[in-house]
Amino acid sequence: MKQTFSETFRAIDARATELADDALRRILVVDDESTIRIALSRFLRTRGFEVETADSGDAALQALRASRFSVMVCDLRMPGVSGLTVVPRALEIDHDLGIIMLTAVNDATSATDALSSGAFDYLTKPVELMDLQAAVERALVRRLRAMERRAVDRLIREEVAARTVALEREKTALRDLTVSIAETLINAMEAKDVYLRGHSHRVAEVGAAIALELGLPGAEVEHVRLAGRLHDVGKIGIREAVLNKSGPLTDEEFAHVKDHVRIGIDILAPLQHLGSALEYVQDHHEHWDGRGYPRGIAGEAITLGGRILTAADAFDALTSKRAYRDPMTPAATLDYLRTQTGRLLDPRAYDALGIVIRRGNIPDVPHIG
Ligand SMILES: [Fe+2]
Repeated sequence: MKQTFSETFRAIDARATELADDALRRILVVDDESTIRIALSRFLRTRGFEVETADSGDAALQALRASRFSVMVCDLRMPGVSGLTVVPRALEIDHDLGIIMLTAVNDATSATDALSSGAFDYLTKPVELMDLQAAVERALVRRLRAMERRAVDRLIREEVAARTVALEREKTALRDLTVSIAETLINAMEAKDVYLRGHSHRVAEVGAAIALELGLPGAEVEHVRLAGRLHDVGKIGIREAVLNKSGPLTDEEFAHVKDHVRIGIDILAPLQHLGSALEYVQDHHEHWDGRGYPRGIAGEAITLGGRILTAADAFDALTSKRAYRDPMTPAATLDYLRTQTGRLLDPRAYDALGIVIRRGNIPDVPHIG
């Protein structure tokens, strides 16, 4: 729903006119004395108003519930429900009702009370008819303004809500696009290396399964999955000769490989909407005992998402074939990784890894049995 401002204001005008026509001319006169009811309503009718009368506070509230009025002229002192009691109840029924109280000359305190409980104005008896007309007109103008203001507020709220939805949709589309670009990079990189093919996808799926097993909320599970898909994007910046080297790495080469975490963060950092997924990518080579990289942090100082990715990454690396060795079986891998809990792995992440691998329902991921 996109409206130009002139359309918005035309809609406000139309709504205001509709409201004005609706109840503008209807007045409720409330007094227990019939002479006053008759005199005031006769005068107001000659001024073109449609008038109804009520002889008590209860009758007034009933009339307000039954139909709409723009103004209520109401006696303050009445037997039964007094005018002071009627005011807040009447405003509950119609928030915009203009209320004009009629008071005795010596009753200024009650008049002030009526005003503070929401009455618009008061007139002292005997009522000067010209004063009544002026007060009614002022009440009508105020009521109309209040209704217009609310109509504008509502239209603005609707407009803002519609634009927020559109913006959210654009943000989601942008996020999907940037993620798919990053994934294209990763796929291109993995395609060059037969041993890496599908690695990021499997780390993402195992990581998400562990996150779910640990009871993380849905949005966090998705952040872990996303981080799994993107965790090695920085390998784009690593020399191919080093990446594909089958023998042991020199210190210089290992330092170069470690740099893939920093390069990955540099690539992903502008994508602020990735949220905590970025931190998980940054932490995927940290070790529980603090001997990992890039920061060498330990234990719970490492994000849980990072610890989950470390477990998923280790599992996939060991169960994948390498140029220099055959893949390990899932059972042997879990046995080996158990020896790494408290060193490489967070024991909680390891336990959840064991559960999801034994359950064996993650597509493309080897399982036991
Ligand atoms: Fe990595």
